[in-house]
Amino acid sequence: MTSPTPPSPSSSVTPKRRLFVTTALPYANGAFHIGHMMEYIQADIWVRLQRMLGHEVHFVCADDAHGAPIMIAAGKAGKTPQQFVADIAAGRAAYLDGFLIRFDNWHSTDAPENHQLAQDIYRALRKAGLIYERSIEQFYDPVKGMFLPDRYIKGHCPKCDSADQYGDSCEVCGAVYGPTELRKPYSVLSGATPELRSSEHYFFQLSSPRCAEFLRDWTQGNGPHGAPRLQPEVLNKVREWFTVDEAGRGGLADWDISRDAPYFGIEVPDAAGKYFYVWLDAPIGYLASLKNHFDKGQAAAHWHEASRTSQSFDEFVADPAVEQVHFIGKDIVYFHTLFWPATLQFSGRKTPSQINVHGHVTVGGEKMSKSRGTGISPLRYLELKLNPEWLRYYLAAKLSARVDDLDFGADDFVARVNSDLIGKYVNIASRASRFIAQYFDGRLDYVGATDEMVQAASALADDVRMALDAREYSRALREAMAYADRINAAFDAAQPWVLAKDESRRAELQDACSRALAGFRTLSVLLAPILPATASRVARELFGMPRDFLWSDAAELPRRVAPYQHLMQRVDPKRLEQLLQAPAEPARPAAAPAAAAKAAPELASAPIGIDEFSRVELRIARIHDAQAVEGSTKLLRLSLDLDERDEQGHPRLRNVFSGIASAYDPAALVGKLTVVVANLAPRKMKFGISEGMVLAASADDSPGIFLLSPDSGARPGMRVS
Ligand code: MSP
Ligand code: ZN
Repeated sequence: MTSPTPPSPSSSVTPKRRLFVTTALPYANGAFHIGHMMEYIQADIWVRLQRMLGHEVHFVCADDAHGAPIMIAAGKAGKTPQQFVADIAAGRAAYLDGFLIRFDNWHSTDAPENHQLAQDIYRALRKAGLIYERSIEQFYDPVKGMFLPDRYIKGHCPKCDSADQYGDSCEVCGAVYGPTELRKPYSVLSGATPELRSSEHYFFQLSSPRCAEFLRDWTQGNGPHGAPRLQPEVLNKVREWFTVDEAGRGGLADWDISRDAPYFGIEVPDAAGKYFYVWLDAPIGYLASLKNHFDKGQAAAHWHEASRTSQSFDEFVADPAVEQVHFIGKDIVYFHTLFWPATLQFSGRKTPSQINVHGHVTVGGEKMSKSRGTGISPLRYLELKLNPEWLRYYLAAKLSARVDDLDFGADDFVARVNSDLIGKYVNIASRASRFIAQYFDGRLDYVGATDEMVQAASALADDVRMALDAREYSRALREAMAYADRINAAFDAAQPWVLAKDESRRAELQDACSRALAGFRTLSVLLAPILPATASRVARELFGMPRDFLWSDAAELPRRVAPYQHLMQRVDPKRLEQLLQAPAEPARPAAAPAAAAKAAPELASAPIGIDEFSRVELRIARIHDAQAVEGSTKLLRLSLDLDERDEQGHPRLRNVFSGIASAYDPAALVGKLTVVVANLAPRKMKFGISEGMVLAASADDSPGIFLLSPDSGARPGMRVS
């Protein structure tokens, strides 16, 4: 990165880039976890850099609304899928705004634009002769009346006979198999034994020679800006997927793109009861969100060239100069490097320029599961008043252009923020501006030549720009912090506290402080993509600018500085600890003295946080029917109304077994309201499946079971919290 004559950012003529940038569309079935935030922050930093450079950027995302898991989750929540995903969507802004992530548009794959685009693209693929139909055999749940995705089938492992194994692999012996090989299979949804049924599916002929040939070229090629489309390690992985062995095995398989009703998705044109598999319409959602953005007329707001404001979505996506850049995680590479470019290419559209793949976030070295997330809840982070820019800085300090996983560690976080961000960068401003306010009324002045300083700032700005543009954020921050070290060292060497005591040395004092503040300003420009709020305050409050920084401000010398305003606090490790407290700490052996234990009411379990409690979904239910259970003296079979609907929208009752037979006459229960744990995983019992649990009070040392009931006015389906 050290060329003899570094071009200054203002003099280098970079043609305006036209960028369409996305992050993966998150499934609309849960809150964001720290992994999602990392992806958005990574992309947001990149986008902010491009904007500061004056490029045209359209940065969009959307909820990935479709698919069987969301349909089923909606049913369980007693909502229509549309209502369910709308509720999830309503919660997104708190995360995005909270972490200063500025998408231009957030849309949904269930929006009309996506229905239209997905069907258009499908028709084009059909016309290109790449779609065919074939009958396949699949497990069908006769109770639910639907074909079962693999993950909804369980049974005994065909190899080691362990019970309750998923349809694709055994967690006990590691065997990999197909769902139809399971012994004693059952549906996770109803407990019923699934039946093999055949059905017509639509396939995308990815194995065709023209697809394979196109993809081989495409994956190895460069985008319009000249950068390779794929990172080297991603390309290696993709090559493996192409490879056909001597026996002719391997290579690209055709892609099953349809699912049978009931399914929450987009209808396949001219095929009754068939829907697109969620992964067909999901990436098309990138285009749908962009189209929505253009159609709303908002695209114009972010353009710097007035002449282009009249451009439409169609014109924009057709422009060969437009770069389409996707940020995604390593688990969805197959979809984005094979299916997605092929879908675009053979429907006559422009293909992506760059697929930027990141690794996964782990916490304290542990992988987090998609469903459980981790102990770090992004909302809790904000609730604890931890600064969002700390997380942005910390993640940036650990991110590179490689696909490596990234571990979130508390000590590491505290060290990076407190010693680098605050200790090296923020402190320059507070130390130097004090003297300027006290002795120079805010005026900055330099003694002797400043060329060298300007050149150094300019060279640094080029290096950092290149590093950020290449997503080498940790390298960019290393360079910036090395610069901060040099500024601090020069400031200390000048000994301003000594100079301040000697009135004859005012010019030297002013020079030392001015140089430190010029360096601070340069750093603020370069850190602006990572610390947008702080940089904005530095520009406006400290340096009196009427706007936020642009990249070209990096090497300019400031002439004034306003009195220092507090910019950023250090992290209190205790508050970070609170964030990292594992949500389900096992009860620790009692450490309290015996006397204290007696005085306080004894709890059977360790304390939990509100987060953990709120994962238990308590709802009001009306007892629609209650029956004795033949063969059991303890149980009653309750039929409960939680105001839920099934996938077809019909009212649905839950079957719950409850051990209250000794205390209640079934007939007397009918019509009563009670409280149910609504998100308890269905449990297979001897007498059938129990889909929840009613709450009742009891004590070990006295008889009686007392069903909970709400105060009058509560209605079935209401959430109890
Ligand atoms: N809906 C699909 C993507 C469709 S894109 C047309 C999906 N959704 S997801 O919610 O499961 O994941 C969204 C993004 O978050 C993906 O890029 C995924 O790689 C990323 N991450 C999920 N877990 C992650 C970590 N633990 N760490 C970092 N990123 C993680 O996949
Ligand atoms: Zn097994």
